[in-house]
Amino acid sequence: MARVLALLGSARRNGYTAGLLKQAAEGAREVEGVTLDVRNLHDYHFGPCTSCFACIRSEEHLCVLKDDMGAEGELWQALTHANGLILADPVYGWGPSAMTHLFLERLYPALFSGIFSGLPFGSISCASNQGMQHLARNEICKWAFCKGFRYQGGLAVHVVHLAESMREAAALGRRVAEAALEDEREGRQPYTDEERFLAYADSHWVAYEPYIANLTRGTGRWEESILHQGLQASVFTRPDARELAEQALEVLKQCLAARDEGKGEESYKLLVRASALWTRATWKQFLEEQVIGVPQPEAYRPIGENE
Ligand SMILES: Cc1cc2nc3c(=O)[nH]c(=O)nc-3n(C[C@H](O)[C@H](O)[C@H](O)COP(=O)(O)O)c2cc1C
Repeated sequence: MARVLALLGSARRNGYTAGLLKQAAEGAREVEGVTLDVRNLHDYHFGPCTSCFACIRSEEHLCVLKDDMGAEGELWQALTHANGLILADPVYGWGPSAMTHLFLERLYPALFSGIFSGLPFGSISCASNQGMQHLARNEICKWAFCKGFRYQGGLAVHVVHLAESMREAAALGRRVAEAALEDEREGRQPYTDEERFLAYADSHWVAYEPYIANLTRGTGRWEESILHQGLQASVFTRPDARELAEQALEVLKQCLAARDEGKGEESYKLLVRASALWTRATWKQFLEEQVIGVPQPEAYRPIGENE
C-alpha cells in the first residue's frame, strides 16, 4: 500500500483547516491502494534547527536532536515511510504558521541525503479573516521547491468560498494519492535540479526571477552580480572556490544573454547550472573549513555534466 501522510498545522482540531484536510484525505482514500496517516503537528515536540551541522557531517545525513523530528523521532519516521505528503495550514500573519515553518525547517538533513527529493506534495492554506492566503500558499510552494518535493498543487482558501474549496481539496488529495501510488510502485524517481526548476515554472512559486535577482542584487545585470563583485574584491581566496565562482559568472552571462534573446528554457537551464556552481563556490570558500568542516555532499545541488 502507498502511504499518504496528511499533516495539520492548526491547533484548532475541528476548525476550517482541519475540515479541508479531512476532505483532502477523503479524496486520497478514494484511490485504490492508498492508505492515509493523518496527524497534527501540534501533537509533537520539536524545536528549531540548532545549526550543529551534524546532519551534513555524518554519512547518513540524519538529525541528532532527540525530539520528534530527529532521526528517531515519530514524525520524522512517519515521513520516511510516506509516499506522499499533504500539509494543511492556517494563514497566520499573511503567511504560513510558525509550526509549519518549524516542521519544514527541520527537513534540512534531507537536502544532503536526498531522501525526500521527488516526494509528491500538496498544500492547503486557509484564512478566515483579512486573508492573504495566496501569500501563505506561495510561501509553502517556495519551501516545497527548496525541499525538492514534487508539487501536485497548493490551495489558497478563504472560507467565503469554503464549499468550492472543499471540492478542490478532495481533488488535490486524489492527485497526491495517485502520485504516491506511483512513488510506491516505481520507487522514488530521481528528480534532478533541472527537472525541478522547470517543473516549478508552472507552479505558485517560480524560481527564475527571484534567483536572477538573488545573483544580480536585484538588477538583472551580471556587472552588478555578487559573483562579479566577489571576484573583483578578491573575496575568493581559495583557488578552487575562485575557479568555481569564475565559471558561475560565465554561465550567468550566458543565462542573461539567452534571456535577452528570448530563449526562455535555455536561460532557465543555464541558471540551474550557474546556481549550482555558485553554491559550490560559496560552500568551498565560506562553509567547508570554517563552518562545517566537510565538502559539499553529492546529493546537494550537484553541478551535473563536466563536474
Ligand atoms: C496568530 C494568528 C494570525 C492570523 N493571521 C491571519 C491572517 O493573516 N489572515 C487571515 O485571514 N486570518 C488570520 N488568522 C485567522 C486564521 O486564518 C483562522 O484561524 C483560520 O480560520 C485558519 O483555520 P483554523 O483556525 O480554523 O484552523 C490568524 C489567526 C491567528 C491565531
